[in-house]
Amino acid sequence: MSQESPTDRPLTTALAEAAATAGHAPSVHNTQPWQWRVLPDALELRAARSRQLAATDPEGRLLTLSCGTALHHARTALAAEGWTPVVERLPDPDDPQLLARLTGLHRTDPDPAAMRLVQCMQVRHTDRRPVSDEPVPTTAVKEIAEAAVAEGSRLQILDGDQVLELAAAAAHAGTVEAEDPQLREELAYWTSRAGTGTGLPSDVLPEQAPQTTVPARDFGRPGTLPIGAGHDRAAVYALLYGDEDEPDSWLRAGEALSAAWLTATRLGVSVVPLSGVVEVEGTRQTLRGLLAGLGHPYIVLRLGIADPAHAGPPHTPRLATEQVVDTSALRGEHG
Ligand SMILES: Cc1cc2nc3c(=O)[nH]c(=O)nc-3n(C[C@H](O)[C@H](O)[C@H](O)COP(=O)(O)O)c2cc1C
Repeated sequence: MSQESPTDRPLTTALAEAAATAGHAPSVHNTQPWQWRVLPDALELRAARSRQLAATDPEGRLLTLSCGTALHHARTALAAEGWTPVVERLPDPDDPQLLARLTGLHRTDPDPAAMRLVQCMQVRHTDRRPVSDEPVPTTAVKEIAEAAVAEGSRLQILDGDQVLELAAAAAHAGTVEAEDPQLREELAYWTSRAGTGTGLPSDVLPEQAPQTTVPARDFGRPGTLPIGAGHDRAAVYALLYGDEDEPDSWLRAGEALSAAWLTATRLGVSVVPLSGVVEVEGTRQTLRGLLAGLGHPYIVLRLGIADPAHAGPPHTPRLATEQVVDTSALRGEHG
């Protein structure tokens, strides 16, 4: 039986496993809009435009954010195995689908903090039930924000008045999206993909709209997730933002989202992203106002302590690794 330690394993194994581990990453509507290519000494991340939300996300902002979460997952998995890459983001202007290339991999000591986050990847999930009345510890909020900053974005914690502004913006975005037949059709498509490994199955969607100050996304159909009578009074709302509004910054924002969410998972804090307010141009401008025009909003996060008394939703299914990780270059095939 092989007794090799992680550091004895070939680089290609580590690259293929990192890409497979990145399959746990969160993505808008669980579209998993990424495609990995494992090369003998590099790993490439491409946008899978066939799974882009063409109506909801025509610019690919949320697609790129989603790919950024996968990129951070892969980087973390490599760090846990003792590999440090040089990360080139959008390295080829003639090939905008190539979002990142991980090259120049060199040996480092396996990183225990990264190992812990890899464990968190297996348990992290989106729990759309109202949060419990237990407040989120201030120290946890600080650590979550620091994780985002370490990845080059920032997290603004919203005060009471700002939460009310966010609530109005989220309600408005919900109305705009519900009135658009193309968006409704797209949502219906991604909420009826049972058995495909993509999209949102009914058991992760609330059986009725939760009683929350900031309205959650209306998925256009009730699910089967019991939500009880809780409210979100103890929830903390935060805005992930940064200096630029370009594909490169969306990718980095996704990396920050992953870092913040995995850190939250480690600290027992539940996260629900709210992207409707970013999808609708007018409400994205409202969020800019909350930042006093000093940054570009990427996504809103609800932080809270999940209801401990009842089981949360099951894990949302994923595509099979072979569908998102291409290892043919290792076998001398043309991929
Ligand atoms: C960029 C992005 C935007 C998202 N927007 C929302 C949202 O508006 N509402 C929501 O309930 N979940 C949202 N999610 C969560 C995804 O639906 C979720 O990550 C995906 O279904 C996979 O499920 P999991 O997180 O439980 O693994 C978003 C996730 C990402 C990465």
